[in-house]
Amino acid sequence: MEKTEIRIYPDPVLRQIAEPVKDIDAEIQKIIDQMFSAMYRTPNGIGLAANQIGAKKRVVIFDFKRTKEKEGSPFVVINPEIVWSDGSISYEEACLSIPGFSAKVTRKKKVGVKGYDREGKPIEIEAKDIEAVCFQHEIDHLNGILFIDHISSLKRAIFKRKIKKMLREMKRKANAQQ
Ligand code: NI
Repeated sequence: MEKTEIRIYPDPVLRQIAEPVKDIDAEIQKIIDQMFSAMYRTPNGIGLAANQIGAKKRVVIFDFKRTKEKEGSPFVVINPEIVWSDGSISYEEACLSIPGFSAKVTRKKKVGVKGYDREGKPIEIEAKDIEAVCFQHEIDHLNGILFIDHISSLKRAIFKRKIKKMLREMKRKANAQQ
């Protein structure tokens, strides 16, 4: 099986809105497996949305207890929806699709999330603090929203300069290898 790559900003798929899953069929199971293997190949990713591997489906995965070496408690939420939220928290966020950049984002401190597990059973989860942040970050991905959309325009300008420089550097290296 070929390796699933995590799509990197500014890949347009990261700006597309993912479609609701109608049937939890073999295709969805395959996407979920690919998402987990892509996430576990990173040293510290604890959440991933399907668009990040180029699949426009409303699927998010998490493992808040993983270490660099092994799985902790992986779980999937299909068609996730935030049904209530409360409070506010400011947390330094990063994203596997935006390497080398992090910024403080203010979000809800607690959320209630409804959806389905990978067997299609309805689930409801209550999350707080970093876990609540992760749910909001990943569900944002399904709507084409990135954490950099929540930061100040000044910080975003710094980010855009940084990413341009990084992309130039990547191009230069690729050219040098030819
Ligand atoms: Ni992300």
